[in-house]
Amino acid sequence: MSKNIEVTKLDIGMILDRDVMDFKTGVILIPKNTVITKELIDKLIINKVDDVFIREEEIPKLIYNNDLKESYNNLGDILDNIFDEVKMENKLETDKILKVMNDFVDEVSKERDILTQMRLLKKKDDYTFNHSLGVSILSIALGKWLGLSKNQIFDLSIAALFHDLGKLKISQDIINKPSKLTEDEAMEMKKHSFYGYKILLDTKKFNNDILLGVLQHHEKIDGTGYPNGVSEKDIHLYAKIIAICDIYHALTSNRVYKHKDSPLRAADYLRQESFTSLDSHITQVFLKNISRFYVGNTVLLSDGTTGIIVYVHPQDETKPIIKTGDKFVDFLKEQDIEILDIVV
Ligand SMILES: [Fe+2]
Repeated sequence: MSKNIEVTKLDIGMILDRDVMDFKTGVILIPKNTVITKELIDKLIINKVDDVFIREEEIPKLIYNNDLKESYNNLGDILDNIFDEVKMENKLETDKILKVMNDFVDEVSKERDILTQMRLLKKKDDYTFNHSLGVSILSIALGKWLGLSKNQIFDLSIAALFHDLGKLKISQDIINKPSKLTEDEAMEMKKHSFYGYKILLDTKKFNNDILLGVLQHHEKIDGTGYPNGVSEKDIHLYAKIIAICDIYHALTSNRVYKHKDSPLRAADYLRQESFTSLDSHITQVFLKNISRFYVGNTVLLSDGTTGIIVYVHPQDETKPIIKTGDKFVDFLKEQDIEILDIVV
């Protein structure tokens, strides 16, 4: 079975079912049976290929959590209205969101495999919207892993949901610019955490912890962040948590200018940052817990084969043991092959 799919909707690990031709020259650009990689998607985009045919595999049975899905959709509908209100009228209706958020925190807290569920939840074609909900889910989970109280997790979930609210006040041309921002544009972009803080402050409905979670989510432990360049002891716990979930979710999502990274590459990046800009203890707790979800997942390897993650090393979650065919490959020792992505 073959299926036509837009290049922007391709996922790493899909397999080409027909040759991709360069229609100008008539030569084969990429032969059929090639496994889609991040680099290949870039090549298709550069060559202005709009769509390709991929092999339609049997879709693996993933179990939906219907309660979480319903709660997510309810929250999404309200968030949609809020985003419109903030964009058009600069006001924020809070009552409805506080009601549904309670239910959402409960559902996310009960869910044991948030990564699979996040993949299944309905997404809109709007990065800030998806990112807000995604960072909120990850923050609720991380709050739970850190042993925060129910009230703390609730406040954290609100701060995470609204952490990028201020981006609604920034020109879409800057937000979606595929190339590097100019100095002025970057300065404007950096104002989003303050804009978001100010919108929430003006409602008089949110406590100081929530406000600081939003204001400080780009501050860094070593004092190199913004808007105020404060360091470790002056950064609120919620902002430290949101910073980690923000980076992880951004790296593992598709953007207009880049294809998503694998969760393992994102984890590797977080580990590096935990030596300088991110809270090292919170990052460790995040990586240790999120990696539990990787076991049993299929990965795509750089030699074109696939394997299944059978063990995650506690000392380095980014280099698991993979079963491929009838052999086991330990990526703590393997140098020649790279894990390109977690496919399912
Ligand atoms: Fe942000």
